[in-house]
Amino acid sequence: MTRITPLLLALLLSPAVEAAPFAKGDAKAGKLLHDQQCAGCHIGRYGGDGSRIYTRAERRVKSASALAQQITTCNANLGNNLFPEDEANIGAYLNQTWYKFK
Ligand code: HEC
Repeated sequence: MTRITPLLLALLLSPAVEAAPFAKGDAKAGKLLHDQQCAGCHIGRYGGDGSRIYTRAERRVKSASALAQQITTCNANLGNNLFPEDEANIGAYLNQTWYKFK
């Protein structure tokens, strides 16, 4: 039988001790980018400040990873203007403000 060494155990457990989603993102910088680059198109569809796309009952994003994925998809709509750090910052903003995934 294989013995589970402490190192292997630490590797196995490490995802569980990971910080909150988008912990490295800067939500303030993310909001700025979001308002400049993302909101316009959402406002065109949902009116107001566009945030209803994040709060509607039938919203599609149901996990932090799905949120990251959707940000990447929508960034592609913009012609991939944003760097991965930008996406992380926007993720931090959207998660702190609307989604609140832990
Ligand atoms: C060209 C238009 C357009 C742009 C620009 C755009 N989006 Fe979107 N976004 C959409 C549409 C359309 C949907 C809804 C998709 C659906 O309901 O199937 C959406 C949905 C989303 C959702 C999911 C909402 C839910 O249902 O939970 C997120 C999050 C999101 N966008 C983030 C962003 C971010 C971040 C940016 C800027 C990087 C951005 N979007 C730019 C069109 C756009």
